[in-house]
Amino acid sequence: MAFQPKAVLVTGGAGFIGSNFINHFMAANPDCRVVNLDLLTYAGNLKNLTGVEKNPNYRFVKGDVCDGPLVAGILAGERIDALLHFAAESHVDRSITGPEIFVRTNVLGTQILLEESRRHWQSGLVAGFRYLQVSTDEVYGSLGETGFFTEETPLAANSPYSASKAGADLLVRAYFETFGMPTLNTRCSNNYGPYHFPEKLIPLMIHNILAKRPLPVYGDGRNVRDWLHVKDHSIAIETVLKTGRLGRVYNIGGNNEWQNIDIVHLVCDLLDKKLGRTAGESRGLITFVKDRPGHDRRYAIDAGRMRNELGWEPSYTFERGIDETIDWYLANQQWVADVTSGGYREYYEKQYGDR
Ligand code: NAD
Ligand code: TYD
Repeated sequence: MAFQPKAVLVTGGAGFIGSNFINHFMAANPDCRVVNLDLLTYAGNLKNLTGVEKNPNYRFVKGDVCDGPLVAGILAGERIDALLHFAAESHVDRSITGPEIFVRTNVLGTQILLEESRRHWQSGLVAGFRYLQVSTDEVYGSLGETGFFTEETPLAANSPYSASKAGADLLVRAYFETFGMPTLNTRCSNNYGPYHFPEKLIPLMIHNILAKRPLPVYGDGRNVRDWLHVKDHSIAIETVLKTGRLGRVYNIGGNNEWQNIDIVHLVCDLLDKKLGRTAGESRGLITFVKDRPGHDRRYAIDAGRMRNELGWEPSYTFERGIDETIDWYLANQQWVADVTSGGYREYYEKQYGDR
């Protein structure tokens, strides 16, 4: 029988994927309480959650996943029966210039959540506790021209970001093997969709095309990523939480490989049409720049386990997903202006500052 949580703790719920997940999950599970623990770093934005903030089943806590007593208090006080760990430092380029915070947040933060979850689970306060670690296909390293990452592919992380996520995944494995903790581990390919911070490829390109600024393409632009709509990722995580086999890893992907340069061309052409610009105008902004050090060449996910064991498949075609995503950015220029100016921070002060 499927697991139906009554109260979930989501970490990093003000970020791109976490906020999309909460918006989806609360609509699909109206009786489940959701506590969102987020430190509101540069990547956390409560404006992503205006649709749920007045829901009596929703509670926001500003705090750090490395704060064990805070986490313990939420787990016991809210009788949490599922913890979904999204919070992370998530940008590869930032991990190259400043790796330390990645180890603190992604590795130490995961260990603290695991340890507090273990105590909570062993206390027997709630029945059927589950811990779900949200991870990335980047832990597998880089592929050549052919082949796919399966759940059995050895971990071979190449960037400080992916190394910190791999370290966290191994801790999750260790808590399952050592303590028998009820853990689940998802590894997803690149996501796109609404509320994506404009430091990542797709929203950065949309943002720069609108502003007629250069479009920086790293190296030869032929690196390949497998793109998945964030709504499909949210549904996949809900599916794993409810029906996944404990102790198991699940790869989640879109079966949707694109070379970076082709994605940039596509976004340029779609925006030229939507903005009434001359065909080809935005492509003129493309600027090839120095490659990212250690730049993984290709990621591609074999999502066969998700499909065969849990019956999950992506529902978005890329054609529809990218079109809707561009329309979302066009309709939400204030959101983009707020996140690029840092203005979104004032929203927290107004909503929660006096608590
Ligand atoms: P994001 O950077 O948009 O959001 C991260 C969130 O975590 C932010 O709200 C931030 O405030 C919060 N946070 C950071 N440090 C914290 C701390 N110490 N305590 C509490 N909160 C903290 O990231 P995202 O793109 O939404 O990614 C979410 C998760 O999914 C990450 O674990 C990431 O590794 C994983 N993932 C992302 C992708 C992708 O394409 N974006 C793909 C696969 C997996
Ligand atoms: P990104 O969105 O940072 O995700 P990740 O590195 O986690 O896959 O980058 C996606 C791809 O786009 C990656 O191959 C790097 C490339 N890229 C650029 O070419 N230019 C850019 O400005 C950015 C941010 C990324």
